[in-house]
Amino acid sequence: MRVILFTGKGGVGKTTTAAATAVQAARAGIKTLVMSTDAAHSIGDALGVVLVTASDDPDPVVEVEPGLFALQLSAAHSVRRSWRSVQDYLLTVFKGLGIDPVVADELTELPGADEIVALLELRTQVESGPWDLVVVDCAPTAETLRLLALPEALAWHLERLIPAQRGLLRALRPAAVAAAGLPLPGVQALETLRRWLESMLEIQSILAAGTTSVRLVLTPERVVIAESRRTLTSLRLYGLAVDQVVVNRVFPAAEAPEANAPESNQGLTHTSWLVGWNIAQQRGLSEVRHSFDPLPIVIAPYLAGEPVGTDALAALAGACTGEVGDVLMTTPTQGMTVRPEDGGYLLTLPLPLVTAAEVDLKRRDDDLLVSVAGHRRVLSLPSVLRRCVVAGAVVRNATLRVRFVPDEKLWPVDD
Ligand SMILES: Nc1ncnc2c1ncn2[C@@H]1O[C@H](COP(=O)(O)OP(=O)(O)OP(=O)(O)O)[C@@H](O)[C@H]1O
Ligand SMILES: [Mg+2]
Repeated sequence: MRVILFTGKGGVGKTTTAAATAVQAARAGIKTLVMSTDAAHSIGDALGVVLVTASDDPDPVVEVEPGLFALQLSAAHSVRRSWRSVQDYLLTVFKGLGIDPVVADELTELPGADEIVALLELRTQVESGPWDLVVVDCAPTAETLRLLALPEALAWHLERLIPAQRGLLRALRPAAVAAAGLPLPGVQALETLRRWLESMLEIQSILAAGTTSVRLVLTPERVVIAESRRTLTSLRLYGLAVDQVVVNRVFPAAEAPEANAPESNQGLTHTSWLVGWNIAQQRGLSEVRHSFDPLPIVIAPYLAGEPVGTDALAALAGACTGEVGDVLMTTPTQGMTVRPEDGGYLLTLPLPLVTAAEVDLKRRDDDLLVSVAGHRRVLSLPSVLRRCVVAGAVVRNATLRVRFVPDEKLWPVDD
């Protein structure tokens, strides 16, 4: 099953382009589900339908037209309550265990219930839905990145917490646990944590799968392009494949520079306003091409009105130009690799658009903390690297390269 996530800066047209892609795919005979990661009604608004959420049916899937299904997340989902209790529990336990500040810091950034519900729903749909394609309309960039980083981060915490909890259960009598101010880690709590860990690992494998990709939606404006460049880097940091850049709201004359700016009957002021925007967008488009090469770039025209309803969305999809491509086509994810080199090992992680100065590396026990512009990923090192020390790191050809050499203390060199 193909999964495409749409993200980008606020208001650039994520919902619209996601819905347009879904309508076009469905009309081409691809059984498609479109869903949003927030509980707002934006997908329904774009499709021009009311997606009701009945209380006894938490996430009803509505068939909008043949082959096109839409799902509205319910604001009263039972997972919300469950997530809140897991979150509270984690926070108390970590605080009580005196967990190191880096971890505590990560914990405070855990996403809210909306995002968790969306991830779990995505997993359900991918695992048991009858779809060929699932289109996910994501929240603006920052929240999306937090969302996409979550399964790995949470799995990381849970994996460590479960043995700690087992240890506590064994080592301390319940009274002592209570005296230490920790919540009682009953068998049931452990079971809940284990289930959450399982879900998170499954979601992680969906996000990292070769059949999942992200489309970055932007408008040809400098501020938007700058943010999108940083987003691309962060998405790669989290191991997500970006397979397309969608430039939305492009004026016709900006896309075809040789064409004359349309005549205006509203006087010189309007004409110069339009000419000004055309020039700005032409510059923006060339910056987009330059910034995101070799990613395929799709250009969506600025329509004369809001594309609301399936016909208008299909028309928008049909009017897109550039490397539109096949919606079911997949792009291989370029993840972390490790290979032997010069008596040591070389770890590589593709990170487009970064300079060495923006990357920060920290080794913590068996993990490598990679930070880029405020985003951090905790990479669990493969066992072979755990017995090594970091000997150096560079960023070359859009790839972070970290050299590891065997730690002689741990791994004595034979004569
Ligand atoms: N190509 C286009 N031509 C004309 N109007 C458009 C186009 N794309 C989007 N719009 C309109 O712009 C507005 C914002 O679009 P949309 O809701 O898709 O943005 P969004 O990125 O999902 O916003 P948010 O960050 O709030 O979720 C909507 O009114 C939509 O109809
Ligand atoms: Mg939206």
